[in-house]
Amino acid sequence: MIINSISGKYPGAMRLRDALRGVLSEEELKYVPSSFDIIGSREGAVAIVEIPPELSHRKREIGEAIMRIHKNVRLVLAKASGREGVYRVRKYEAIAGSGPTEVVHKEHGIRLKLDITKVYFSPREATERMRVAKQVRPGETVMVFFAGVGPYALVIAKTQPLVKEVIAIEINPDAYGYMVENVKLNKMEDKVVTVLGDVREKARAWYGRCDRVVMPLPKGAYLFLDQAFSCLRPEGGIIHFYHWAPEGDLFREAYRYLEVAARLHGFTLRLVSARIVSPYAPRVYKVALDVEAYGV
Ligand SMILES: C[S@@+](CC[C@H](N)C(=O)[O-])C[C@H]1O[C@@H](n2cnc3c(N)ncnc32)[C@H](O)[C@@H]1O
Repeated sequence: MIINSISGKYPGAMRLRDALRGVLSEEELKYVPSSFDIIGSREGAVAIVEIPPELSHRKREIGEAIMRIHKNVRLVLAKASGREGVYRVRKYEAIAGSGPTEVVHKEHGIRLKLDITKVYFSPREATERMRVAKQVRPGETVMVFFAGVGPYALVIAKTQPLVKEVIAIEINPDAYGYMVENVKLNKMEDKVVTVLGDVREKARAWYGRCDRVVMPLPKGAYLFLDQAFSCLRPEGGIIHFYHWAPEGDLFREAYRYLEVAARLHGFTLRLVSARIVSPYAPRVYKVALDVEAYGV
């Protein structure tokens, strides 16, 4: 059994509160987190939980309760910072269990080796990755900017085996190292090309050659639209764009960025879809816009 992600909507959250009954007071139980993530497999998993300030003195009990519910969890980490820097990595504090932070996680039939303390990875984005992968057509050349340990590239290559090539660019050497390993682990060497470096420099080699560009960096993808449109074939293609947006105006700013960049590159634009992916902060959402660019 592989457990990917548990959120408040699932029985896991109920069970965490139940598991803490008799350990925490009725008042403390009100603050028990309604969601946590599990990354890994039956052979070994790491749980990640956000401990509210009201329960900071109870973090060990919460960690131990997660381990009682999920026997495959050998280590529980509490978030100790927000995501930081270019690599979008956060700090963690071990609150229960022991052992390595490296795991092998399974998603949509691919295996992803990663150390969550060194790289960005979120199991909650599995559905979004599959949504994108299902759109890829046979023969396409797909560019994945900000590739991380390779989940988009590998899910695309697995879901559309007739894809011509998936190029995956990542700047964090640790994430890149895992991506190279994951491509081998999933026997995708003939489909996925891994590139270490900055999209600003490395994407150049594929200018004018791609049918589709995936841009999974809500913090700043708009700064890379020049590279994204440059990668598309002169006749056009699809861009999957991610952005953070306020509740009251979810898509307008993102679409404006896309429209301006498309015009500069001589494309006209059609909005294929616009949707909320996940909440990011109070009244701020991660949104995804799929657009089709047409060459003139
Ligand atoms: C939000 S994470 C997404 C990772 C991966 N696509 C996933 O879904 O797990 C963004 C990634 O982009 C990388 N990154 C940030 N700026 C970059 C740049 N200029 N060029 C290449 N990669 C970059 C970060 O190191 C990080 O791994």
